[in-house]
Amino acid sequence: MEDLIYLDNAATSWPKPDRVYSFVVDFIRECGVNPGRSGFDKAIEAGNLLEDLRKRLTRFFGGDEITPERLCFGYNATDALNLIIQGLLSDGDHVVTTNLEHNSVIRPINHLVRDGGVEATYVPFNGDGFVEPDEIRKAVKPNTKLVIVNHASNVIGTIQPIGEIGAICRELEIPFAVDASQSAGMVPINMTEMNVDVLAFTGHKSMMGLTGIGGLCVRKHLDIRQTRSGGTGVRSAFPYHLEEYPYRMEYGTPNTAGVASLWAGQDWMEERGGVESIYAHEIKLAQKLVDGFREIDGVIIYCCDSMENHIATLTINVDGLEAGDVGIMLDVDFDIATRTGLHCAPLVHEQLGITKIHGGVRFAVGPFNTEEHIDTAIEAVAEIAERARKMKRPTLQSSK
Ligand code: ALA
Repeated sequence: MEDLIYLDNAATSWPKPDRVYSFVVDFIRECGVNPGRSGFDKAIEAGNLLEDLRKRLTRFFGGDEITPERLCFGYNATDALNLIIQGLLSDGDHVVTTNLEHNSVIRPINHLVRDGGVEATYVPFNGDGFVEPDEIRKAVKPNTKLVIVNHASNVIGTIQPIGEIGAICRELEIPFAVDASQSAGMVPINMTEMNVDVLAFTGHKSMMGLTGIGGLCVRKHLDIRQTRSGGTGVRSAFPYHLEEYPYRMEYGTPNTAGVASLWAGQDWMEERGGVESIYAHEIKLAQKLVDGFREIDGVIIYCCDSMENHIATLTINVDGLEAGDVGIMLDVDFDIATRTGLHCAPLVHEQLGITKIHGGVRFAVGPFNTEEHIDTAIEAVAEIAERARKMKRPTLQSSK
């Protein structure tokens, strides 16, 4: 286990920084009470961390600093995306999205299409893995009530031109939502500059927090209809869910350990010189991986001709092998953790034409990966490709 080379950081970052582990343990031990529910000192202290984190993350995402209460916490990006999609679309509405989306967007939309009278257009990506902003414009109809785009693909790693798409949405006065699951903490995001109206994030990937924490940041000019209700900790006699933020988008006791982990994750990012500096390390290693894979016969790399506008995540296949088999060999024979299959983003694989071989093999670099990890991964894939070539020979000979 100690020797495991972890290249599955797009699924969740691991390990977490030491200061995240220690801050969470200390905070929960010292102050793990229910924030915002009671008036004793520790409850106030726990609540203060939550409120301070709202301010910190609003700044981090370039949201409206005068309305930090619109940074609302939930379980993860899927949770936030459900709130956004169900809260902004109604019977008769049309939504524009893309083939790069994760099931956290595809499935809530498809449910509304099947059961709720909503119409959806999925815009394909181009040969390099990018959605053309003009294609988004062309997909818009008079009843389009939402454009929702994945900032960075969890399969091919391309970063979409969010600023350009945001400018189009602003011009057309259509709310623009961004799924920042993979990009938050990996690359800088400025919602104000990019005209993003609502952003969904998760805490456990490049934000370096625990699983079970995420949320959404809603700009001050957008209101999302409530689709759930429950406890808020305040105004308990009121018979309905509160309309004011953050309560409007928060339901039940928050994940305090998760909040603490995100706070420490922010501290760690600052200590490491900020998002740009962490990204520089990760993308250098991802580039090395691509360069190495390019030299191996029989390795197919998707949408990585250039690593510009790319996160440190990429997907490959080895000619002649099922993606899952490559993943098993990497795990069992080389102690390398990757994720294979469709990565909960089936339309990406469908468009790449690799659904029939059950997807691809994804390598996702994180801040704690090293040059040695990458060298080992390249050597492992070279050996697997060699095995695939040998396995093919008898088939070719016997068919003569
Ligand atoms: N969405 C995560 C991934 O891409 C879990 O692996």
